[in-house]
Amino acid sequence: MRHLYPFLIIIIFFSLFYFFFIKEKGTDFVQICQNREISKCKIADLAYNNPENSLETRVTDLLERMTLEEKIGQMMLIERKSLKNDDDIALYGLGGLLSGMGSKPKQNTPEAWRTMIREYTRISRTSRLGIPIIYGVDAIHGHANLAEATIFPHAIGLGASHDPELVRRVALATSEELADTGIFWNFSPNLDVLADARWGRFYESFSSDPELVTSLGRAYIEGVASYDASSYRAMATAKHYIGAGAMEWGSSYNRNFKLDQGESKMTLAELRERHLPPFQAAVEAGVSTIMVGLNSWENKKLSANRYLITDVLRGELGFEGLVISDWYAVYEIETNKYQATVTAINAGIDMVMLPFEYKRFMTDMELAVKNGDISEARIDEAVKRILNLKFKVGLFDKINYHPDYRESIGSKEHRALAREAVSKSIVLLKGDEQLLTSLAKSKKIYLAGSAAHNLGRQLGAWSVEWQGIDGNWTKGSTIYEGIKELILPETDLMYEPNADFKHTGVMADLGIVVVGEEPYAEGWGDSEQLTLTKNDLAVIKKVKEKSKKIMVVIISGRPLDIKQEIKEWDLVLAAWLPGSEGAGLADIIFGRQAITARLPVIWELD
Ligand code: BGC
Repeated sequence: MRHLYPFLIIIIFFSLFYFFFIKEKGTDFVQICQNREISKCKIADLAYNNPENSLETRVTDLLERMTLEEKIGQMMLIERKSLKNDDDIALYGLGGLLSGMGSKPKQNTPEAWRTMIREYTRISRTSRLGIPIIYGVDAIHGHANLAEATIFPHAIGLGASHDPELVRRVALATSEELADTGIFWNFSPNLDVLADARWGRFYESFSSDPELVTSLGRAYIEGVASYDASSYRAMATAKHYIGAGAMEWGSSYNRNFKLDQGESKMTLAELRERHLPPFQAAVEAGVSTIMVGLNSWENKKLSANRYLITDVLRGELGFEGLVISDWYAVYEIETNKYQATVTAINAGIDMVMLPFEYKRFMTDMELAVKNGDISEARIDEAVKRILNLKFKVGLFDKINYHPDYRESIGSKEHRALAREAVSKSIVLLKGDEQLLTSLAKSKKIYLAGSAAHNLGRQLGAWSVEWQGIDGNWTKGSTIYEGIKELILPETDLMYEPNADFKHTGVMADLGIVVVGEEPYAEGWGDSEQLTLTKNDLAVIKKVKEKSKKIMVVIISGRPLDIKQEIKEWDLVLAAWLPGSEGAGLADIIFGRQAITARLPVIWELD
């Protein structure tokens, strides 16, 4: 037996040599990898996973390895709650997941968000090629799905600031809070050029002035791009392409709505002149994604409009990023689901926010390729853009998202910025600043109104729940708290929401009433009645009867009709939907900040 030992040692030596130097590193390995038998080679060693390679090399390498099924998977953007099973992420190779507003982990804490995103990412990386999902949210006024986040004024308030630098900082702070939960893709800014205050989404955009929307939109996109707190990059989404700010009352395709998801009735010249410039600027600023709206133009859903998406956006504006569709928009194209899919993809939609039916989409797309209704070249083009985005964010280069988050969520610095943003958004509709600050020093002040001590009203919708939540349920400062903080020690401040002040026979020097709209989102906020409620008007009346001077603060997402009443009031402030830091309004009342804001939209007062 002993004489066999030398032979055994030689055999073992050659086996090891073969295993380490020939099989793994030799031609065999390369051939197997090129033949896409990934399981037999190390994924980490493939060209697309090598950060040293150029973006183009990585994208091309990965695309070449993908099967048709894997490519179709990447084109799907799914709402997390419609996953039948989390393993479907890898099974279907889903491209992206999103949280529709209100879709959050059971515990709505930063840690729970981080764990959730990390887990989705982990699962996606167990697919054959280990392609990570990208996760998107509507952080339209901060990371507002998360209760602890800093919630900034809705866009119309930022529009009133006319301040691109401020918008840039708000966008950066938002990106930091998102990144601290592992999210790098924001479905914001909203670049709709506003036309009709009856629209339930009026407050989501900056202005009715195309130039202001253009400059603040550009600033927002630059702010997102300036995020550099980790090795990841943050991405903005300009929406809703195009003309969604100017739909016609009564034209909605959704039977629950009046205006939202309706017809943008205008000529091509008007569409180009008023509604295209913000998107042109977004493209110039390097925006990564453009979301196509739920509106129609010339009786055709935008997602079906090849001319506007492919010829204008891609051809004329030279947009090379990703085009995504809006919520269920593709299946709203008026035909059957198969045909709708074919139409949208050929029109130029690269990634479809289905957001539910991923199995069906897979089958339809495979059939469409088989039937020659969608070319493989078109699919390759779309997938290339999706992969591009993922590589640019940096999603491939770490197994999970980075653990080095900075605890920026709801931080002191961000809340201070939000407070500054509030003070820079307050518009004086009636009265002058001197009168305002001198009255704030009064001996006796009454404070009342449905929105005086109500964070939910300040936040508006798109705040933890899609339609918002009335009341004081989260962190922040209410207007009442802000006033209490800054009021002179010798002032006697009394707060009664319904103005039930005990009659002392002494008039207050100043009565402040904070009133306004209850939260609403999208078409549910379409309304012809843009007035204060009877209840709010009654409270104002009660306070006026007991005060020498009266100041009315309006919390609203749009101009309200106060033509009749304003004559009776001494001072009127428009505070829009200021978000979590209501104390910014007190900074204006007490003269800590000068009034710099101007109306971003028309508000008729006489
Ligand atoms: C809205 C989009 C939003 C999407 C995802 C849609 O209803 O129109 O603005 O990005 O939902 O939440």
